[in-house]
Amino acid sequence: MKWQVRKPLAMAHELVKACVQSGDVVVDATLGNGHDALFLANCVGARGRVIGFDVQQAAVEASSARLADCEAAVDLHHCGHEKLADFAPAGLGAVMFNLGYLPNADHSVITLPATTLAALESAVELMRPRGILSVMCYPGHDGGREEANEVEAYFAALPRYGWQVVKHQHLNGPATSPFLLAAQKRAEK
Ligand SMILES: C[S@@+](CC[C@H](N)C(=O)[O-])C[C@H]1O[C@@H](n2cnc3c(N)ncnc32)[C@H](O)[C@@H]1O
Repeated sequence: MKWQVRKPLAMAHELVKACVQSGDVVVDATLGNGHDALFLANCVGARGRVIGFDVQQAAVEASSARLADCEAAVDLHHCGHEKLADFAPAGLGAVMFNLGYLPNADHSVITLPATTLAALESAVELMRPRGILSVMCYPGHDGGREEANEVEAYFAALPRYGWQVVKHQHLNGPATSPFLLAAQKRAEK
């Protein structure tokens, strides 16, 4: 199939797949049902490792079940991603965030700006050159717009000689359309 403009989440996967190498250590900062974690596991393969976080035990269990047969090493934590630096080493190939709430679960459990930004700080610190940070933002739910604005401001302030930063959103949809923010760390000279 010829290349086509994709929805933001599909674009996140496309960018991450292009940047991640077999054997990388990568992070899913918001496990949910484990779809993104499984995608990451398939990208890094048998020599790689996926580290995951979620504040809901049910999410960690669902992700663990989904990843049961994958070849990558898997290290899932029932705690907030603000603890990322306690569990992840330097040299990460990718860190993915899918913000908001878990569909078909408790919609009152949402990601929050302060903890999301704390985790982003750690992710930026631990990324390897050419590694990628992706964040799916959802401005449509209560609190989602504020969080999306704060995350976008954080991305926009990353130093331009250190990071390539992009935003991907359908501009002809509703103002609450989800969007992707992605930042790739530039190679060291
Ligand atoms: C949109 S869902 C993630 C979807 C998931 N990536 C997937 O593939 O199914 C957002 C998740 O973030 C989790 N979450 C909320 N606050 C969090 C925090 N501080 N740290 C880690 N996860 C958090 C929620 O419990 C929820 O499962």
